Amino acid sequence: MTAKLIDGKQIAAEVRADVADRVAKLKAEHGVTPGLATVLVGEDPASAAYVRSKQRMCEKLGIHSVGHKLEATASQEEVEKLVSDLNADPAIHGILVQLPLPKHLDEEAILNKIDLAKDVDGFHPINIGRLTMKGREPLFIPCTPHGCIYLLEASGVEISGAEAVVVGRSNIVGLPVAMLLQERNATVTICHSRTRDLASHLKRADIVIAAVGVTEIVKGDMLKPGAAVIDVGINRKDDPTTERGYRLVGDVEFESAQEVAGAITPVPGGVGPMTIAMLMLNTLRGAEMSVS
Ligand code: GUN
Repeated sequence: MTAKLIDGKQIAAEVRADVADRVAKLKAEHGVTPGLATVLVGEDPASAAYVRSKQRMCEKLGIHSVGHKLEATASQEEVEKLVSDLNADPAIHGILVQLPLPKHLDEEAILNKIDLAKDVDGFHPINIGRLTMKGREPLFIPCTPHGCIYLLEASGVEISGAEAVVVGRSNIVGLPVAMLLQERNATVTICHSRTRDLASHLKRADIVIAAVGVTEIVKGDMLKPGAAVIDVGINRKDDPTTERGYRLVGDVEFESAQEVAGAITPVPGGVGPMTIAMLMLNTLRGAEMSVS
């Protein structure tokens, strides 16, 4: 069996087209342009690249974006003051503090400062708390987890009643995606670095979300035939046949997995484009909420 490819590029393009339409409508009807502020502390090249691509996408969709860059040595007070200023700025509807922050900074205190109504990453403790509790609604759902669920639903994967295994327990992906699956009535197992026998859990999984940051840890022979596999990993793998000397691969060994899975996301071109599309959607929603 060869798995159906879940085309994140295509599905993200549809989400973005809807966002662009709604941005234009908001401008026409209320004279409001959605605004996103990004905060990048330090020089990490991967973080800088992510922030640039978020800003470029804003431009394409008619969303106003402002990039703030602080030195790697910025103090806690400096970062918190910037967040407070952005909270008070009516042209800004979303604030994104790129993670990870330099080690000397208190990430929790900084995320705590973000106005709940501008928390487009959904990382504020109250938004995360609401996400994890029954019957509570966060104002914003974190972008990558939301993208994973959107891909499953857009591909017709039945979540309710399914056995779902999430590999990874990060605050950014593993934990929130597990909560979203549970809310949709999946039976969820979270596996992580201390899990004794990953394969025994994966064998039962109708849905696999791989988000642990370990190159190709999930192999085809660990999967249940027909499983839907969402690969969040982006890892460099040595490949002397390429110009750069490496290629990007996920946390899933794609070649073996696609022989067993029913549906699978590629890397790149799977979850990656969805993360940015969901950030655009959240920024638009922040602006829509500001006029309602
Ligand atoms: N670092 C890795 N992913 C993310 C994300 O979705 N948002 C932020 N702010 N930082 C990240």
